[in-house]
Amino acid sequence: MKTDYFSSRTTVRKFSDKEISEDVLNNIIKKALKAPTTGGMQLYSIIVTQHPDKKKTLAEAHFNQPAATGCNLMLTICADFNRFSQWCSASHASPCYDNFLSFTSAILDATILAQQIVTIAEMEGIGTCYLGTVTYNAAKISQILNLPDLVVPVACLAMGYPDGKAEETERLPLEAVVYHEEYPRFTDEKILELYKAKDNFPPNKKFILENKKQTLAQVFTDIRYPKDMNEAVSDQLLMLLKTKGFLK
Ligand SMILES: Cc1cc2nc3c(=O)[nH]c(=O)nc-3n(C[C@H](O)[C@H](O)[C@H](O)COP(=O)(O)O)c2cc1C
Repeated sequence: MKTDYFSSRTTVRKFSDKEISEDVLNNIIKKALKAPTTGGMQLYSIIVTQHPDKKKTLAEAHFNQPAATGCNLMLTICADFNRFSQWCSASHASPCYDNFLSFTSAILDATILAQQIVTIAEMEGIGTCYLGTVTYNAAKISQILNLPDLVVPVACLAMGYPDGKAEETERLPLEAVVYHEEYPRFTDEKILELYKAKDNFPPNKKFILENKKQTLAQVFTDIRYPKDMNEAVSDQLLMLLKTKGFLK
């Protein structure tokens, strides 16, 4: 186990052809299942996609991102109150989890599990990349994976053995994210100082130039996460939560 894992970890988007064996994957997941969960309910499920045909279909739903097309397998980690509800019904109990609170509990369990898988996989030499596109195409992905009511995809991980070493990215300094006793208010000058390393990180500077923008923040607001897209995807997600029975 690498002792400097946490200070040097990176997302991996380029993978070698080496297969992740069922044993290796199962061992990672078994360890990850020790993650804490809401009331011990384990409100998640994991769909493994490794068959080339299914992987191709799922990668399309992830807009054919290179990490999706080039990975060895994908894990779709779902917020899942279906299985628990069925257990309740089969045990002469009345499930009451078709509501937003239950969705937030399940989304937390699924997210914590996803990150536990990432950490264990990476510590064992397997590269991972979250595919945020799972949220953008959640309805289509639900269809591809045949997800029932009360099951919604939350995180997708593209996984494989790394092909080379990815470049480490920058992080905000501690004082930008850790506040003692209460939430501070920053002046704009202070905010700009705190984000300086991000603004000046060479790949980010390249992003600004490529997108013909003046600042990195504009790359986020105008290109990567713009208002119209945020609102359209929010509407789609709310619709999916209704369809899947988490919202009335
Ligand atoms: C929820 C989430 C969604 C992400 N979605 C994507 C994605 O769709 N494609 C991608 O290449 N990386 C994705 N990433 C990886 C981030 O871009 C990456 O973690 C971030 O740039 C920091 O880089 P690092 O992990 O190498 O330190 C995602 C990460 C998270 C946590």
